[in-house]
Amino acid sequence: MKLLSVLCLLSFAISTSACSASEEVKRGPHSQARHQAFTQMMPTYTKMVQMTNGNNGYQKAEFAQLVAQFETEAQAPFKHFQSDGQGLDGKAKAEVWQNSTAFEQQQTAFFDSIKGLKTASEHSNLDEIRAAIKQVDKQCMSCHATYRD
Ligand code: HEC
Repeated sequence: MKLLSVLCLLSFAISTSACSASEEVKRGPHSQARHQAFTQMMPTYTKMVQMTNGNNGYQKAEFAQLVAQFETEAQAPFKHFQSDGQGLDGKAKAEVWQNSTAFEQQQTAFFDSIKGLKTASEHSNLDEIRAAIKQVDKQCMSCHATYRD
């Protein structure tokens, strides 16, 4: 770990982002669980984006299945939003616990965007689907901007 941080310092000018994750983030069990759940939903999310990026490879049934899987996986992290105590909350900012109503609204907006994607997936219209994915992505970024370091 010591060596890693030295390497991080040396490479600071080249790349700051690669080092911050492993060295500075401290997690208790709740943060660990939600971090893992967020990480686990990523392959499905990437597959959905890839399948709708080009004009080839889109399969209605397969895509609908990915959306259903993503809907389940995307709920998992939010079962673990309890604070582990100051300094142990991973990348979750204090705002999460300070204004839980606003944070819940942010979650609801995210789940609603996934419902929109589900509806779009029933129509097989790639433009509509891409627009719906964009809405989901907007919710990821909107929440991260306020609640994630
Ligand atoms: C309502 C808020 C919220 C939404 C919506 C949300 N996230 Fe996050 N996300 C967080 C918070 C807070 C963390 C930090 C958790 C921790 O470290 O304890 C996080 C962590 C992550 C992580 C773990 C790695 C890291 O950099 O911390 C990934 C990957 C991630 N989010 C991806 C996404 C994607 C992709 C979406 C949308 C499909 C999304 N998130 C939607 C709040 C949210």
